[in-house]
Amino acid sequence: MKPLRIAVFGAGLIGRRHIDTILACPEDAELVGIADPLIGADKYPQVRAPFFKSHTELLDKAKPDAVVIATPNSLHGPQGIDCARRGIHVIIEKPVTESLETAAALLKEVRRAGVKTLTGHHRRYAAPIRAAKQMLSDGRIGRLVGVSVLWATRKPDAYFDVAWRKAPGGGPVLINLIHEIDLMRHLAGEMSSITGTASNAVRGFAVEDTSGAVITFANQAVGTILCTDTGLSPWTIEQGTAENPAFAYTGENSYRFIGTEGALELPTLKLWTARDPKQIGWDKPLAATPIRVADTDPYVEQLRHFRRVIQDGEAPVVSAEDGARTLAATLAVVESGKSGRPVELAPLFEKLIA
Ligand SMILES: NC(=O)c1ccc[n+]([C@@H]2O[C@H](COP(=O)([O-])OP(=O)(O)OC[C@H]3O[C@@H](n4cnc5c(N)ncnc54)[C@H](O)[C@@H]3O)[C@@H](O)[C@H]2O)c1
Repeated sequence: MKPLRIAVFGAGLIGRRHIDTILACPEDAELVGIADPLIGADKYPQVRAPFFKSHTELLDKAKPDAVVIATPNSLHGPQGIDCARRGIHVIIEKPVTESLETAAALLKEVRRAGVKTLTGHHRRYAAPIRAAKQMLSDGRIGRLVGVSVLWATRKPDAYFDVAWRKAPGGGPVLINLIHEIDLMRHLAGEMSSITGTASNAVRGFAVEDTSGAVITFANQAVGTILCTDTGLSPWTIEQGTAENPAFAYTGENSYRFIGTEGALELPTLKLWTARDPKQIGWDKPLAATPIRVADTDPYVEQLRHFRRVIQDGEAPVVSAEDGARTLAATLAVVESGKSGRPVELAPLFEKLIA
């Protein structure tokens, strides 16, 4: 198979990661252009591909097979539609769009054009997550009863020098919680309803700094999550792995899946089972088994998977529609906090494909 001819929109923080990933995988992808109105070739001496100020100029001149959209959230929808209308496949960074209305408009164009999509929930490709998915579906902890997730860290004060991070949409719900909701959907199954709450009490910005939710899954498992960017703790998935150098490593687990026959902690993968499988009960000793998996780069895995989705017809691990369901569930946390009522997700999922 030939490498994908791929372009990147947005050469900022995460765009750089995608650009470096593409350059590191010449058998899978060839970088054919970068569009960013503010960032040019001087910031990327390693790149030979042309830079464009406008994404449409890039599409018309470089004619890529596929694009990674790594621009601000509100551009994901319109830029994704511009790609779909030209028959160009897309990886769209999370959140897939900034609202359910724009997600529905994007999905309509994607279906009409028949282009392939991924949403950039890169953690689904991480080795411990893939191993956990396998262990849960193999029934290693029995029937899933529930899952408890923490994402709690204190972002440095300078992080909030940028105005949009203090405004609605710029807070930990759409930036951080969305990743956890996505992983919970991926590992525990589809969600059916969410009761949430959100608070801005500590920082006092217009956007939330803390949120929490109780989740009912379609398989009747129950989940809880606490997400805050104003509390100091060792419990975020980033701190538990070394995936993001911006986070100080703690090696602590922040996910606990509980089943009838045992429990599984993530991201370091610790399996708890009865020491004697014939004797299960709170008075019987447990055994903890650490599970080791070889490290891989989830961005490389995501890019390779994208090539196989386009060229070999592999089913997408997380399509734009799947990403839109994650968005719907994430926004439901804040919505429920405002209304004080649970949000049923099925009607929202239906609207996405209406
Ligand atoms: N998967 C992840 O873990 C992850 C991590 C960080 C960011 N993100 C997502 O990636 C997106 C970008 O975030 P970031 O932190 O890299 O932001 P950023 O501000 O660092 O980069 C965005 C870039 O887009 C450029 N841009 C603005 N308008 C443009 C246009 N019309 N066409 C092309 N480029 C344009 C900006 O000049 C900037 O360089 C956001 O949606 C964010 O949620 C995902």
